[in-house]
Amino acid sequence: MQHYKTSLIDEEATQALGKSLARCLQAGLTIYLHGDLGAGKTALTRALLHGAGHQGKVKSPTYTLAEPYQITLHDKACKVMHFDLYRMSSPEEFIEAGFRDEFNANTICIIEWPEKAEGLLPQPDLDIYLSIPTDGRDVEIQAHSDAGQTCLSKLHFAPRL
Ligand SMILES: Nc1ncnc2c1ncn2[C@@H]1O[C@H](COP(=O)(O)OP(=O)(O)OP(=O)(O)O)[C@@H](O)[C@H]1O
Ligand SMILES: [Mg+2]
Repeated sequence: MQHYKTSLIDEEATQALGKSLARCLQAGLTIYLHGDLGAGKTALTRALLHGAGHQGKVKSPTYTLAEPYQITLHDKACKVMHFDLYRMSSPEEFIEAGFRDEFNANTICIIEWPEKAEGLLPQPDLDIYLSIPTDGRDVEIQAHSDAGQTCLSKLHFAPRL
């Protein structure tokens, strides 16, 4: 499967990647975000949502587990659900909140800490790994489906070195 790797020298680079990713989104995508606390999962999602036209705030859904957004994709309304499952205490919490219904063809689901809901989530179209070397961040994006490949093949990102 296709993959892409680069370095993000500072927060601005993370923002630029989020903005570039916003241009290759399509409804129905499931995107897992991996990386330690502070790796930049929320920062990347924030830039992606702003790049996709969301004008308000994007706060970390640490306590709510999920925040919904509305964007316009190809002239159509599209929902984006931003999950942070770090504090999810049990599978019931996920199921009772109705989160399983959010994984549908009209919604893009972006999930921080998917490891916390193993077995409850569908497979991702894209896995994004953020890591913290001595300076900046490293990122690797892996596509796992046709939709993920399509998204990745549309990605145009020129990192500053
Ligand atoms: N490329 C970068 N280089 C250096 N710092 C960065 C870079 N991108 C983001 N940051 C900084 O790293 C931090 C990322 O915080 P963020 O809340 O996005 O992490 P997170 O992965 O969502 O963590 P959590 O698991 O706690 O939700 C912010 O302080 C941001 O300014
Ligand atoms: Mg976060």
